[in-house]
Amino acid sequence: MSKTAEPKNAIEVTNLWKVFTSDARQIDFEDKQKLQELEDSDEDTVAVRDISFSVQKEEVFVVMGLSGSGKSTLIRCLLRLAEPSSGKININGWDVCNLDAEQLTEFRRKEAAMVFQHYGLLPHRNVLDNVAFGLKLQGIEKKERYERAMHWIERVGLTGFEHYYPAHLSGGMQQRVGIARALICNPPVLLMDEPFSGLDPLIRREMQDELVEIQDRVKTTIFFVTHDLDEGMRLGNRMAVMRKGRFVQVDTPDEILADPADEYVARFVQDKRTQIEKANKKKTTTSA
Ligand SMILES: Nc1ncnc2c1ncn2[C@@H]1O[C@H](COP(=O)(O)OP(=O)(O)OP(=O)(O)O)[C@@H](O)[C@H]1O
Ligand SMILES: [Mg+2]
Repeated sequence: MSKTAEPKNAIEVTNLWKVFTSDARQIDFEDKQKLQELEDSDEDTVAVRDISFSVQKEEVFVVMGLSGSGKSTLIRCLLRLAEPSSGKININGWDVCNLDAEQLTEFRRKEAAMVFQHYGLLPHRNVLDNVAFGLKLQGIEKKERYERAMHWIERVGLTGFEHYYPAHLSGGMQQRVGIARALICNPPVLLMDEPFSGLDPLIRREMQDELVEIQDRVKTTIFFVTHDLDEGMRLGNRMAVMRKGRFVQVDTPDEILADPADEYVARFVQDKRTQIEKANKKKTTTSA
């Protein structure tokens, strides 16, 4: 069966591994010696190491880590855009790792949408058709899909640009199209891989605010990847800090700031703590 009764959490991941290997051999993840050989090999990369976590319904869960820590591989595994090597993924009752090709298409169409860092728009279709594309795949007739697309185009502030092609839009505008395209299908889970990292700071902030506002209204579950601590803290209900394929801490942003789990996380949050301490000092001196 493709979908079982819905569990309490929107996303449940258990002992997930992703290894990029030079051949298609089976790996026994219980065999510690074999694992060590894999770690030492130059040809293989262990990108996701034994990760387990759950994301509650309507939660914004942020994964933050430096470049190469495995964030994109992890988020891609959730939709099987990267094939997990071992482990379990359950998204709203879908046993993701055991879906056949047809079920996987159905799962991607109904349950989860992804917004990519580099927008991933269809270059030969205009804004209207890009936004309406998911509805077309669902077989919804033209009049309805254009009406719904126009609604989302307005929501993301692109009214007047319906007939523009992606190449004629700025990065921020293209990303708005990407977000409208993902949200139009009303996905129970929204996956976002550094969606704002190519944008100017001001526009980036605006897009973050917009996402918070949209989230308040549509109440979807968001899995958001970033390498920016400020962004993670602004958006996340909880945040996982990722290093070398592992989650080294999963907590609320405040807990991470107040009580970093190790040296690595402490270094990550140091600047932010200093910034807050300085701001507090300034406040006390001005009010004194
Ligand atoms: N298709 C692939 N084939 C082989 N190795 C890969 C592949 N994709 C990613 N990797 C490796 O997996 C590791 C994790 O990469 P990943 O792209 O997931 O990191 P990231 O945290 O998303 O980094 P960034 O912040 O730069 O986007 C890296 O060592 C990378 O080289
Ligand atoms: Mg990445």
